Amino acid sequence: QKFDVCVLGATGLVGKTILEILEQRDFPVNKVYPLASARSAGQFIEFNGESIEVLDADNFDWSLAQIGFFSAGGATSAKYAPMAGDAGCIVIDNTSEYRYEADIPLVVPEVNPDALADYRNRNIIANPNCSTIQMMVALKPIQEAVGIDRINVCTYQSVSGAGKEAMDELAKQCADLLSGKPIEPKSFSRQIAFNVIPQIDVFQDNGYTKEEMKMVWETKKILGDDSILVNPTAVRVPVFFGHAEAIHIETRTQTSAEEVKELLKNAPGLVVCEADEDFPTQIGDASGKDETYVGRIREDISHPNGINLWVVADNVRKGAATNSIQIAELLIEQYLS
Ligand code: A2P
Repeated sequence: QKFDVCVLGATGLVGKTILEILEQRDFPVNKVYPLASARSAGQFIEFNGESIEVLDADNFDWSLAQIGFFSAGGATSAKYAPMAGDAGCIVIDNTSEYRYEADIPLVVPEVNPDALADYRNRNIIANPNCSTIQMMVALKPIQEAVGIDRINVCTYQSVSGAGKEAMDELAKQCADLLSGKPIEPKSFSRQIAFNVIPQIDVFQDNGYTKEEMKMVWETKKILGDDSILVNPTAVRVPVFFGHAEAIHIETRTQTSAEEVKELLKNAPGLVVCEADEDFPTQIGDASGKDETYVGRIREDISHPNGINLWVVADNVRKGAATNSIQIAELLIEQYLS
């Protein structure tokens, strides 16, 4: 059985990666409809050796597609997802637009596959934030085995999370600064080249940024535990692809670094780097891969129930495109075939 799919935001960073991964994973695609705004309609993209015209989402008949991958920004999803859902196109949405609505499932296939059943409520499934996804893949096996009371996390997030323009800006700032030219920040509130910025998304009334609060809200929803405490600091670093996270957890019952390594080695979607010196980084390990990499697993010397981990994943792949496609694969396996 093959499916007709549409990709909204097909000319963007995540949309292009979705098309690539659909090919790589041999997803059962019958017809693909690349969609964007009127700006890009009429361009052509390559898919499975064919040249396919990009269509204006405004004129698209959503009943033509059975599955829709949406990654064109929150406002665009708000405009089209209900229309698509009503027309029978099951939307897998990469934006934060629907993530916090109680009747919309928020799914990481390795972590909470059962939540997917609720897709029937509105034919919309939300893909979590990139930083949350990799943290969930790494922490779920620990939560299941020994429980987690509290998570302290600091992220080191690449500029690809802010889209294509932000990547171009990092490259240009590096070149300009190295040749003595002045720079003017646009995508970020400060210079991003040779700098780190402790602000991702906008500030909230409580002094946290929205990116940080996404990690709090989404962790509770995905793990199905409102009592879990999350204390995040989200930081943008001058890296093109891949997010890293220093995660410090307090478990409900005491465990050991050895036990955590064993748990994670047997868990789906993870690569465990066991030796201290084998720690993963964005370049050479996680970037371009679909797995989440975990290293520096050690006991917290300041707390009897503390465990520390270093978690790295490709934010455009596992953090967005791959996770969306895994959701679609699960949907097909469980409900559409
Ligand atoms: P377009 O090429 O027409 O601007 P990125 O995150 O890399 O910046 O990409 C954003 C993606 O979302 C692009 O494919 C862009 O298409 C698409 N997009 C943005 N706004 C709209 C809109 N109002 N309607 C449809 N697609 C949109």
